[in-house]
Amino acid sequence: MGKGSGFGKVILFGEHFVVHGLPGIVSAIDSTTDAEVKKTIGEISITDERRGAKGYVGEKKAQQLESIDRMLKAMGFEPKAVAFNIWLGGNLPGFSGLGASAASSVAIARAIADEFNLRLSDERINEIAYEAEKAYAGTPSGIDNTAATYGGLLWFKRNLNGANDIEKISLRQPVEIVIGSTGIVANTKAMVEDVAERKKKNPQKYGQIFKEAEKLAFTAKKALLEFDLKKVGELMNKNHSLLQEIEVSCKELDCLVDLALQQGAFGAKLTGGGGGGCMFALTPTKALQEKVAQAIEKAGHQVLRTKIGVEKL
Ligand code: PMV
Repeated sequence: MGKGSGFGKVILFGEHFVVHGLPGIVSAIDSTTDAEVKKTIGEISITDERRGAKGYVGEKKAQQLESIDRMLKAMGFEPKAVAFNIWLGGNLPGFSGLGASAASSVAIARAIADEFNLRLSDERINEIAYEAEKAYAGTPSGIDNTAATYGGLLWFKRNLNGANDIEKISLRQPVEIVIGSTGIVANTKAMVEDVAERKKKNPQKYGQIFKEAEKLAFTAKKALLEFDLKKVGELMNKNHSLLQEIEVSCKELDCLVDLALQQGAFGAKLTGGGGGGCMFALTPTKALQEKVAQAIEKAGHQVLRTKIGVEKL
């Protein structure tokens, strides 16, 4: 039996903007999707035991099958020439916005490689997972699969004409965060397409916002390197405002962001595609993390208490 894992992630800065070639900052969290693959005869079967937002597994089924098909092609298998049973589990919940699809693609690619004794580098796994991500996200930037593959805190810039810029950012130590789920299963592909359409219709407005997002990513990188967490929090709030301006937030996300800030979070923003899915709050110290997490739970939402800057589990 082959085994593999992929990290979940939060985008600290720059979701949506990264699709258009702007830099973003992403961090793996200390939760993974784990996969096991066993060769069989007949068809591919999937047993999906990931804990998740209600409906997540069902709603993503067709995209999941397409992603496996893409993955196999990228790995050089003839379509339908191989069959296996896939098991998916792990402690990464299937909330939208945590890179669950990319984490599962990386986990499955690693497990297939293990089962078929292919010795694939992380770079190759990342490429294969990127192909698989297209099934979920249309034109993904590649930020999710990169975080899912390598872990840690990363600076990421999509390059349309060659290899992406991927740079490790050293964080002095992992920092507590709270992830809050709206419970709404979001469609990243549709969100990305809508942003592109609005950008085309309003080039001036969007040009201005995009410039600000780019500046913000550079300032945030400096603040992270200096471990200036107050500043990082402030910049997260600014990033959330920019995401509201490009219309990818929603009232449920805004409510959770406000609630976290009222409880003393250093900063809070939506993370991932938006339109539902998740937000996260920067809550350095266990005590602050607990306070914010409990407030969100009291409001009726599921939370994940985790850390950013995690390199290895
Ligand atoms: O919703 P998620 O976790 O798949 O994150 C999507 C991030 C986007 O920037 C919106 C899309 C992308 O491909 O980078």
